[in-house]
Amino acid sequence: MSGPLSGKTIVLGVTGSIAAFKAPQIVTRLVGQGANVIVVMTENATRFVTPLTFETLSGNAVVADMFPDRKAGMASLEEAASGPERLRHVHLAEAADLAIIAPATANIIGKMANGVADDFLSTELLAMTCPTIMAPAMNVRMMESDVVRENVEKLEARGIIFAEAEIGRLASGAVGKGRLADPDSIVMIALKLLLPKQDLAGRRVVVSAGPTREPVDPVRFIGNRSSGRMGYALAERALRRGADVVLVSGPSPLDPPDGVECICVETAREMLGVVMKSFAQADLLVMAAAPADYRPAEPSDVKIKKTAERLTLELVRTDDILSEAASVRREGQGIVGFALETNAELEEGRRKLREKNLDIIVVNNPLVEGAGFDTDTNVATILTRSGRELELAKMLKKDLADVILTEVISELGWG
Ligand code: CTP
Repeated sequence: MSGPLSGKTIVLGVTGSIAAFKAPQIVTRLVGQGANVIVVMTENATRFVTPLTFETLSGNAVVADMFPDRKAGMASLEEAASGPERLRHVHLAEAADLAIIAPATANIIGKMANGVADDFLSTELLAMTCPTIMAPAMNVRMMESDVVRENVEKLEARGIIFAEAEIGRLASGAVGKGRLADPDSIVMIALKLLLPKQDLAGRRVVVSAGPTREPVDPVRFIGNRSSGRMGYALAERALRRGADVVLVSGPSPLDPPDGVECICVETAREMLGVVMKSFAQADLLVMAAAPADYRPAEPSDVKIKKTAERLTLELVRTDDILSEAASVRREGQGIVGFALETNAELEEGRRKLREKNLDIIVVNNPLVEGAGFDTDTNVATILTRSGRELELAKMLKKDLADVILTEVISELGWG
């Protein structure tokens, strides 16, 4: 599968914690980003999840110290070197661009902090020079014990990145810190570490995407043809460039990019609420959504029967989310709007840029070949507050997303 992590090899070390059941989700998300994932399991880990699960999800053989006829540690390494399939694992330490240990038990943290290499995983870790993420999962008392804390500090001082355990109900029934970090946040850390240009690092970006659905009655709605592609591409690119991304999405067939916080909404009013709340803590709002401009004035509580020959629906205006956001923006916050125009595109774009008090407006005409709703490409002109007008050729929406973000950085002086 191709994706932002194409060409990257990630070693996922799985150790023996009940949280191992979440590790397959990490594999799926990393593979979805294009990564080549090789799973190394400790013997204890194989008691919680079978290697076959990981083999199936990653498409790679799993290295596991599990076979009774095979000794753990260096013996396995030697055996591993004996067959062409396994040979690759001997070179894992060299091949890996990133190592993730999730879940990481107190045991592996202790071994790593103290240079113990008594099985395949700890041996590999000792030989690795690539960045390493550890996602601890354990009982709260262990987590807070002096020795674990000292070990964590030691590893942090050596540059190991910790995906902090979450507070919640633990397997023991106790509530406290020790739950494995959410697979999405682990993948987000991986993306941040592996992706090159981090020019949106430390920025929080809210992207809206997709159509809205305005109910007519419990089974019908007024919608539009927006697919969400442009917004999803923007969210994915902003994430790749280091931003924390909140994607506020109307109904869309697309899967939200891994690592993005996606909040699903239906109506323009719901979108307004979520966008305003998210924007209050953000640096940038990109309104790529196509919220409805009108909604039925009084949606029926029951399904409307086809008794009358004619039916008139009264529509009322929805709130303009862009304008609402612009009216409360703080110094330093940026706002990008889109304008879908079928004639006099640039004049209309300039007017909306000014009247809606935006930093950038992306103007496009859905009737132009290569632009529009269900295509992967777009043809757009970017207009900026400072007067730049960038007429772009037909390009992939994901590439256009990058151009827009680059313009944002320069317009807002974030470079
Ligand atoms: N938009 C919004 N709230 C709405 C409708 C649209 O914030 N209720 C945003 C869209 O996300 C887009 C921009 O407004 O970024 C422009 O949308 P567009 O439909 O082109 O323009 P409108 O301002 O709605 O004006 P008109 O339809 O009259 O051209």
